[in-house]
Amino acid sequence: MDASAQTIAERLLDWYDAHFRRLPWRAAPGEPQPAPYRVWLSEVMLQQTTVAAVIPYFERFTSRWPTFVALAAAEDAEVMSAWAGLGYYARARNLLACARAVTERGGVFPTTEAELRQLPGLGAYTAAAIAAIAFGERAVVVDANVERVVSRLFAIDTPLPAGRRAIRDAAESITPSARPGDFAQAMMDLGATVCTARAPRCLLCPLAGSCQGRDVAERYPVKPAKKARPERSGQAFWIEREGKVWLVRRPGTGMLGGMRALPDDGWSAGSDGNVVPPLEGAWVPLGAVQHGFTHFTLQLSLTRYEGSEWDALTGPAGEWWLRDRLEEAGLPTLFAKAARLALARETS
Ligand code: ADE
Repeated sequence: MDASAQTIAERLLDWYDAHFRRLPWRAAPGEPQPAPYRVWLSEVMLQQTTVAAVIPYFERFTSRWPTFVALAAAEDAEVMSAWAGLGYYARARNLLACARAVTERGGVFPTTEAELRQLPGLGAYTAAAIAAIAFGERAVVVDANVERVVSRLFAIDTPLPAGRRAIRDAAESITPSARPGDFAQAMMDLGATVCTARAPRCLLCPLAGSCQGRDVAERYPVKPAKKARPERSGQAFWIEREGKVWLVRRPGTGMLGGMRALPDDGWSAGSDGNVVPPLEGAWVPLGAVQHGFTHFTLQLSLTRYEGSEWDALTGPAGEWWLRDRLEEAGLPTLFAKAARLALARETS
């Protein structure tokens, strides 16, 4: 067929058939739809996280917990540890809540976008993606990649976030009834490999002939004026005795909730369960690490305890962990960085 007579969706799907990325949670074009469990797990992991970072986690999770029922029966602490390093830990708590909700429904996963929205941790994007990819529903799937592609294709000038309404409507206007799951994933692949945020490859784009943003693509999506990310500071404590380090379990809600951690001063609201009393004179500064969270940057200073009044510092909500096996503790990245700093300071 003459390419100009094809719809945008048809041209994109032809391109996808030739260029789709093989990913462990995906069915290739023409293959049966993948298991809903795998689609759900991958979409939750891919929220705000790159494909490259997700792949090894996805492989580990699916071999250890291959079904909703298996995951629902896992210990919370095991799942939190397995999630360590992937970030946005509320996702892991919602993952468990969702697997348990599905198990309570007799292991039956809902099949429509509207029902999927009711499950823990499933927002508009994730529910639409699962409905399209696992169940072939003509749902409108808009993630950051799709937002970029569509805002360029239709040269949408309204800055984000207000521009999202027009972007969604434009995405709706090109979503086909046939192969909506492949269409959604084709948009994501186009955004990740051709219609990239920087230096888009318009010459290789199957949609260039209809693109109103062609050659000025980097203008889109139009962003609001940038606010600087605020900086916060906090303190964490390295308490070591006989080759073991004192670790705590953070409270279930709030920042890094439910994760194992070094004790700290409560820098994050909602985390005051492990504040260490400052015993005079027994503390040695080890330096600081920086970590970027979504809404602020944290400068975390680390201090080593050199006294022997352990009982004043440690309590029932923690455990002594072998310092040589700290990588098995499932520390989130912030505290893994702090632990590396302490270990480097001790060996240098
Ligand atoms: N990002 C979110 N979901 C995705 C998917 N199914 N394939 C590739 N990238 C994605």
